[in-house]
Amino acid sequence: MKIIITGAAGFIGSNLSKALLERNHIVIGIDNLSYGLKRNIADIKDHPNFEFVLGDIANPLILKDYHADIIIHLASQKIPRYTNALRTLDENYLMLRNIVQKCILDKSKIIFASTSDVYGKNPNVPFHEESDLVLGSTTIKRWAYASSKIYGEQYIIANSEEYGLKYTIGRFFGSYGPNHNLTWWGGPQSGFITKAFNNEEIEIHGDGTQTRTFTYVEDTVSALVKFVEDPKSDNEIFNTGSNPEEEISILGLAELIWKSVNGEDSYPKLKYIPYASFGKYEDVMRRVPDITKLKEFFGFKPQWSLKEGLKKTIKWQRNILGK
Ligand SMILES: NC(=O)c1ccc[n+]([C@@H]2O[C@H](COP(=O)([O-])OP(=O)(O)OC[C@H]3O[C@@H](n4cnc5c(N)ncnc54)[C@H](O)[C@@H]3O)[C@@H](O)[C@H]2O)c1
Repeated sequence: MKIIITGAAGFIGSNLSKALLERNHIVIGIDNLSYGLKRNIADIKDHPNFEFVLGDIANPLILKDYHADIIIHLASQKIPRYTNALRTLDENYLMLRNIVQKCILDKSKIIFASTSDVYGKNPNVPFHEESDLVLGSTTIKRWAYASSKIYGEQYIIANSEEYGLKYTIGRFFGSYGPNHNLTWWGGPQSGFITKAFNNEEIEIHGDGTQTRTFTYVEDTVSALVKFVEDPKSDNEIFNTGSNPEEEISILGLAELIWKSVNGEDSYPKLKYIPYASFGKYEDVMRRVPDITKLKEFFGFKPQWSLKEGLKKTIKWQRNILGK
């Protein structure tokens, strides 16, 4: 199949491009390199079935000369804790509108990267696809990201009803692994690993008892491959994550990473950052997916435990940072 991937030089996009090329698909990857890196696509850039387009997806003309069976829309602004809520709302909407219109015109399917953040503060875990989406006040800017993704899901479903747009929505839960961004943009793993290498304090936001369920990127990608290749995925939403048993606190993650880097007998140096220092902020205290639907539809089974996935990730990061 011919597939356009937006955000192809980013973390998930680069891993996915590689996997789809290995499965003999043709991939056109688009990225403005605002957060992605050329390094991430260095080993596929000369592949005969890969083309890279440098450009901004908020520009409605950027895709005019390209056509595909499927557009996988990964490019996004993320949690605006350190950046701008307006940019998150504006850019995520503009990009999605362009991609949806393109898909309707070309009769392409859209695969949309949504997020576990849409479940917000819902205290009832694990979250299944029909669970309530419980956000905090609109005066707390961190919810701009979840709002933009909820709007995106509704926008796609409404276009499906009106214009027959074919779609799959994946709600990703904390993906990590090679090519993840080395700043907070990439999630906690990358920063924690660098601190452990440098024997420096790991920053814990709040008291560290908040939990997450992380997914090694190969598992995220193998679910995405199902969304590309299996028509059963059409017009469905899937939690895209690991088994609920992988739930771990942020403190537990810091400890696991530190010990993996510095030995079982070591203990992490920690620095607690109160939530108040982010201004008006709210965290999600537990984030756990129910992935029954993914398993029942595709026989999907996550292949990577957190411990094994971290080992591979630490090895990659050691190499990138020359540690
Ligand atoms: N990584 C995760 O754990 C996770 C969790 C939940 C949801 N998601 C979603 O999955 C998608 C991919 O996430 P990721 O971690 O790979 O992010 P990433 O930031 O590494 O990749 C996104 C890419 O999009 C590009 N981009 C951003 N705005 C653009 C624009 N206007 N024009 C062209 N390119 C643009 C960036 O340069 C970047 O390379 C995002 O939509 C994100 O919201 C990711």
